[in-house]
Amino acid sequence: MQRITETAEFLKAKIGSFVPQFGIVLGTGLGKLAEEIEIEFEFPYSEIPNFVEATVEFHKSRLIFGKISGKNVVCMQGRFHYYEGYSMAEITFPIRVMKLLGIECLLISNAAGGLNPSFQESDLMIINDHISQFLPSNPLLGANIMGDRFPDMSEPYSLQIITKAKQIAARHNITTLKEGVYVSVTGPQLETKAEYRMMRMLGADAVGMSTVPEVIVARQMNIPVFGVSVITDMCVPETLQVAEISKIIGNAAKAEPVMTLIFKELIAEGI
Ligand code: HPA
Repeated sequence: MQRITETAEFLKAKIGSFVPQFGIVLGTGLGKLAEEIEIEFEFPYSEIPNFVEATVEFHKSRLIFGKISGKNVVCMQGRFHYYEGYSMAEITFPIRVMKLLGIECLLISNAAGGLNPSFQESDLMIINDHISQFLPSNPLLGANIMGDRFPDMSEPYSLQIITKAKQIAARHNITTLKEGVYVSVTGPQLETKAEYRMMRMLGADAVGMSTVPEVIVARQMNIPVFGVSVITDMCVPETLQVAEISKIIGNAAKAEPVMTLIFKELIAEGI
């Protein structure tokens, strides 16, 4: 808690009266939304006390403060993953700092593998629920800070925001927006066919290596969350192809404009 406060105080001293309303986390290959921000302040993670470094080369590592659609946002361009060797507390640290800076809503994105055979590469999936239990740890273990000991998870992803996002998609005739359950794993290896089959049987529509720890912490602090997965590769056992990271990044880039539009309009509406 002391380190969280220290980091929030460091940033507050730099940003003065700027209070972010929205927190945004941009996932693998999804950095472009950052280009839509009228930047007021930006900090490489290496300059922020108590932040760790994003070690994946296609993740930029900076925290941006600025305006989108006239609203104040704070945006993580690049996030931290468990597979990088960080603890769950380190991964979710920025979300706690964002709460102290004043965010009222968290928009979060990731690249994910599609388990639902009706999905296609470069579709977007609104996350309407998640399965956290494949993660070997949990950010809420240990001393309880900043929220409930036993946080409710009956609506981890705000139904109100999901409805708005679907309305935005309908208005723009977007047909690539799907909806489903995200299951989180540690990675970094991709899954076997047997694992994809198991995850599908358990009710998941997409699988990825991030997001759930941040969402658990945000919900524990009572922050409404909207999450989107970009389906970068299909993970149906019968037709599974060899995964190529360059293809995954390319498919994320194809979906990026649609994700950017939905995030921008949600922010414009103030949610
Ligand atoms: N598995 C886990 N994470 C992923 C995948 C996958 O198939 N694709 C993109 N991120």
